[in-house]
Amino acid sequence: MKYLLSLIALAATFLLFSCSNDAKPKVVNQEQAPVTTVKPASLTEAEVVKFTEKGKSIAKASFMTLAGNMKKAMKAGGPPNAIKFCSMKAMALTDSLSKAHHATIRRTSDKLRNPANQPSALEAKQLEAYANAINNKQPLKPQVSLDKDNKVLFMAPITIAKPVCLKCHGIVGESVAKEHLAIIQKQYPTDKAIGYKEGELRGMWSIKFDR
Ligand code: HEC
Repeated sequence: MKYLLSLIALAATFLLFSCSNDAKPKVVNQEQAPVTTVKPASLTEAEVVKFTEKGKSIAKASFMTLAGNMKKAMKAGGPPNAIKFCSMKAMALTDSLSKAHHATIRRTSDKLRNPANQPSALEAKQLEAYANAINNKQPLKPQVSLDKDNKVLFMAPITIAKPVCLKCHGIVGESVAKEHLAIIQKQYPTDKAIGYKEGELRGMWSIKFDR
């Protein structure tokens, strides 16, 4: 009887452990284990140079298109018209630029206006690195790396480089008129892209293309 009882106890203990261990199998799958330790393939130095140039030229072309269109919209109807232009056309413009350059072109920020521009974990890390660099008065350099999908990821800072940026991203009551802020907040109720001064980090280009 005593023998039987201890057998039951043993079985119960076994059941208990096997249940609580459901989510974490004790045996590590040998095929899965190395995946996390394998280093991702990296770019050669020549590729880094080549892709940095390519990324820069796509970012420049995109900036020219966005800025050129915005300038026209500003001229035609001041900030209210240009805000309307940005909110209706900025994404469409970057989409068509993406097609033309066979790339995925995005703008992102740590203080977003458009929630659709949300940074990925990797982008957020790079934004933080740029913010630190700017605080320490270090130069902000473009970055290229190979992403998990074997595509090239180019990231470069976007600063408040021109006084015109302040019309919609500057300090309210100084460069941003209160009535313009109202239009912005109506379009973007969660807007955080306000209160900037010239030279500050506004965000970042994140451009992906084939190797
Ligand atoms: C007329 C108003 C206006 C001006 C001027 C303006 N912006 Fe914006 N900006 C917007 C609006 C509206 C959005 C959201 C549009 C979108 O991406 O869908 C935006 C979005 C952005 C974004 C994308 C990240 C985010 O917060 O969603 C960046 C980066 C940015 N602006 C930088 C600049 C820079 C740099 C300048 C000056 C060269 C500038 N902007 C001038 C209105 C403006």
